[in-house]
Amino acid sequence: MSKQVLAFQDVSFSYQDQQQNRSIPVLHSFSTQVYDREFITIIGASGSGKSTLFRLIAGLEEPDSGSILINGKKYKSRLGQTGYMPQKDLLMPWRTIEENAALPLELRGWRKKDIEEKVRPLLEEFGLSGVEDHFPHELSGGMRQRVSFLRTVLSGSNILLLDEPFSALDAITKLSMQEWLLDQWDKRKATIIFITHDVQEALLLSDRILIFAEKPVCSLQEVAVPLARPRRLKDLDDPAVLELKDHLLAQLRGKVGT
Ligand SMILES: Nc1ncnc2c1ncn2[C@@H]1O[C@H](COP(=O)(O)OP(=O)(O)OP(=O)(O)O)[C@@H](O)[C@H]1O
Ligand SMILES: [Mg+2]
Repeated sequence: MSKQVLAFQDVSFSYQDQQQNRSIPVLHSFSTQVYDREFITIIGASGSGKSTLFRLIAGLEEPDSGSILINGKKYKSRLGQTGYMPQKDLLMPWRTIEENAALPLELRGWRKKDIEEKVRPLLEEFGLSGVEDHFPHELSGGMRQRVSFLRTVLSGSNILLLDEPFSALDAITKLSMQEWLLDQWDKRKATIIFITHDVQEALLLSDRILIFAEKPVCSLQEVAVPLARPRRLKDLDDPAVLELKDHLLAQLRGKVGT
């Protein structure tokens, strides 16, 4: 078994709703582990706590109790320890594509020349050469997602958290982005945790699927995807996979509300 890169140990977390003076429990005594170079997908109904899990991993929220370990370590602050691509693409409209992508390096104090040397070849590899000096609104949805992903990769972390990166894309663009992402995952030797509502996408991409099917989330249902790699879309017609798809849809249906 490869090494653990992320662990939740008995983590509980609630949001405090100040206006209504109540607490909203999201995780209760929750434990899980993710291993090096896995591709994990999280599925679950809207409001089940998927993005909150990422906010906890990324250090934007702190658990009420329990521990979160990254690469085996318990950090005082987890900020900057993982590459986090939030649910909305947060490209800055006033910065060019290159400046958006380079933000993590700039924040770490890299010099302009070193940034250019690092970022230029990656822009090319990510299919963004020719638009370095454009602004985000001039790009297609798929291209914007590639810029966001490049920025996430430039965080330098081995753990990439992608929150519904392809949900706004049309079916064809989505498929080519999924293939592209698998290629990147392989090349960068990264561990990816990926949130989606799309069961087919989860089956196509991941090694394991974690299901958020209760609220607050105490334990996860988990399934391993029984498909070798590389995968093609038609592999999803395999009877064992179709059965798994039905099982996942049944798990998701109507279990969680906000
Ligand atoms: N900043 C916040 N303050 C208070 N409550 C919050 C906050 N963010 C989320 N919540 C609540 O926490 C719960 C989990 O929200 P979260 O955003 O993690 O869900 P999600 O599974 O990512 O949903 P979606 O699939 O719609 O993105 C919901 O009940 C939500 O209303
Ligand atoms: Mg979410």
